[in-house]
Amino acid sequence: VTRVADQPSAFDVLVAQAAERLERSAFDFLDGGATDEITLDANRRAFERWCLLPRTCVDVSTVDVSVELRHARLDVPYFVAPSGAHRLFHPDAEFASAAAAKSSGAVYVTSTAASVSMEELAAVAPDERWYQLYCFRDRGVVADLVRRAEHSGYRALVVTVDAPVLGRRLRDVRNNFSVGPEIRWANLEPYGAADLGGPTDGSVVARYFADQIDPSITWDDIEQLVASTHLPVYVKGVLHPGDARRAVSAGVQGVYVSNHGGRQLDRVPATLDALGDIVEAVGDELDVLVDGGVRCAADVVIALARGADAVGLGRLVIYALAAGGQASMTAVLDELRDDLIHTLRLLGVPRLRSLDRSSLVPARPTES
Ligand SMILES: Cc1cc2nc3c(=O)[nH]c(=O)nc-3n(C[C@H](O)[C@H](O)[C@H](O)COP(=O)(O)O)c2cc1C
Repeated sequence: VTRVADQPSAFDVLVAQAAERLERSAFDFLDGGATDEITLDANRRAFERWCLLPRTCVDVSTVDVSVELRHARLDVPYFVAPSGAHRLFHPDAEFASAAAAKSSGAVYVTSTAASVSMEELAAVAPDERWYQLYCFRDRGVVADLVRRAEHSGYRALVVTVDAPVLGRRLRDVRNNFSVGPEIRWANLEPYGAADLGGPTDGSVVARYFADQIDPSITWDDIEQLVASTHLPVYVKGVLHPGDARRAVSAGVQGVYVSNHGGRQLDRVPATLDALGDIVEAVGDELDVLVDGGVRCAADVVIALARGADAVGLGRLVIYALAAGGQASMTAVLDELRDDLIHTLRLLGVPRLRSLDRSSLVPARPTES
């Protein structure tokens, strides 16, 4: 008998298609994590430790999947997390991923390391578009990037703080990961810092980070960033509740619980496990965003029920981009929305805003 469980899932098919279409070193850059990839695996496994606990006899004839952040109402509770160099994954690059986000109603966060500039992208990206910032050694570059984001209609800044140096991505080191001249960090062209090319021993991205990114930033710098812009600021890469408290006094809009998809420090907690204490610490005062290991609608529901206000999609949508460009990514996002509505109906939760921990119960370990 062939059981459904013996068939590859839709997600497995997507990953296989991405693996087939990409060069090995590009696939490894996308798929891999830091060091022993323990956190990469932990992010996924954390979702399996929760069961959904449905309520019955609830009117679920209509379902509302919108959520409220402090500065915006989102039509769907997830957003495209920032990731760099989409031209590495598909020739249409960020034009494809931003258009897919727009057509399916999701917020799009573009990376400092994007292969299309934020100005070029503004025409195809959703109105609710955010800009992810890395803190460069040259603070003039940071100030200019912020000004450009304001001028080109980005509605929030996401400053990534878990990468003072790049994680040890051993797959990239082993592959001597390098890129062709067509892969440039387009946002950085005006500052002469866009070129990733040249010989390496190890990973080209690691070398770039060591040259350009400032490992000395502190909360004072975050405070200065907040003071320098009218845009709301999210701090991405927070795992410690003490940092979340510090973020409150820095005046940010929210904390973004993330371990960079297991690509920075290995052996940190799964983000779903770190989320609870952070929601407890600051959930009443700040937006709490989370990403890491989200692969389907049930994962989104679990993260929101654990107290997140919105959920970031990383590899899920990049595998889709690699598998078939804008069309594949749109299909994945549309299916996620349909599946979310379906899941909430079966869970007996017609309004996402009223979802809470009472819809979850810890999975019991299987008896041997
Ligand atoms: C290929 C790739 C590139 C990434 N580039 C960035 C980046 O430029 N800036 C950033 O803040 N995070 C970056 N991230 C991390 C994502 O924003 C996100 O935290 C992570 O992918 C979430 O985990 P998931 O892939 O398991 O969903 C990247 C992730 C991947 C997979």
